[in-house]
Amino acid sequence: MRIYMTGIVLLALLTTGCIREQRKVSFRDDVRPILAANCIECHSKPAGKGYVKVGLSMATYADLMRGTIYGPVIVPGDSRHSILNMLVEGRADPSTLMPHGRQPLSSEEVEVLRLWVEHGALPD
Ligand code: HEC
Repeated sequence: MRIYMTGIVLLALLTTGCIREQRKVSFRDDVRPILAANCIECHSKPAGKGYVKVGLSMATYADLMRGTIYGPVIVPGDSRHSILNMLVEGRADPSTLMPHGRQPLSSEEVEVLRLWVEHGALPD
């Protein structure tokens, strides 16, 4: 019985460890593919609609962090105040939900973007 219980505890610890490991998000491996599939079409130079309208390109990390002509859309470490997170989470006016006029991101994708920003919006 004792051994059995220890097994369960160990298993629980291992599982939590794995989940935490999976939650480590990388710009290159996790964030960039989401932007590439859903955003870059409109947020790239020279003719993407979002680039033309507010100057926001997501083609590179540097472009993304530069933000729009009005300023940054990401506050590293603070997804609540990052415009990018507000828009994909639908926290702003519904007409500004991103991606514009498309299927919203899945809750997993939204969560990846949130964690990436919370962890400092690092370039790698
Ligand atoms: C179909 C085109 C299109 C797609 C796809 C798109 N956007 Fe946009 N985006 C725009 C346009 C146009 C604007 C300019 C503001 C507006 O019209 O709402 C914009 C503006 C923005 C802004 C700046 C808003 C502000 O007020 O400063 C952010 C942040 C943004 N988009 C994020 C995203 C993200 C993240 C994705 C992908 C999940 C995405 N967009 C996909 C067209 C698009």
